[in-house]
Amino acid sequence: MYDDELLKRLQLERQSLAVMDYPSIAKVFDAGATSEGQPCFVMEYVAGALITEYCDQKKLRIPERLELFIKVCEGVQHAHQKAIIHRDLKPANILVAEVDGRPVPRIIDFGLAKTVEPGQFAQPTRPVPCRRGRLPLAGDNFR
Ligand SMILES: Nc1ncnc2c1ncn2[C@@H]1O[C@H](COP(=O)(O)OP(=O)(O)O)[C@@H](O)[C@H]1O
Ligand SMILES: [Mg+2]
Repeated sequence: MYDDELLKRLQLERQSLAVMDYPSIAKVFDAGATSEGQPCFVMEYVAGALITEYCDQKKLRIPERLELFIKVCEGVQHAHQKAIIHRDLKPANILVAEVDGRPVPRIIDFGLAKTVEPGQFAQPTRPVPCRRGRLPLAGDNFR
């Protein structure tokens, strides 16, 4: 009923979630199989909207949107510290919960995530001079 590839992906997603512990990353609590034998894992339910919808619903201004975005980046950095690359970051995979009235983004869906050896991360090469009025492109200083 479940092909090996699907089972492998579920297992990898669970493992990825299990090694991370950060407020902006949804937590996994348990894993196993249902009584019908369907493999599953249990994760926190994020009662909230997609990050783009949340920002629009709450009519957040640019600085508030950036504050949320920074929290997402911190979560991504935490994953990278654990050598996990999400590979599918997009609004549909970032929900926003409110904790004590403050928005907290939670990254979900590590179904496509990949674990890499720390040495496999792109290493910065040399700094690129930035001319006034032009932002360096990602490819400018990373291999
Ligand atoms: N932990 C969660 N809490 C609340 N909603 C969730 C959670 N996980 C997934 N969802 C909802 O289900 C949708 C699909 O889940 P996702 O893990 O992104 O799977 P898919 O691989 O189908 O994109 C999400 O966009 C979100 O709306
Ligand atoms: Mg998704």
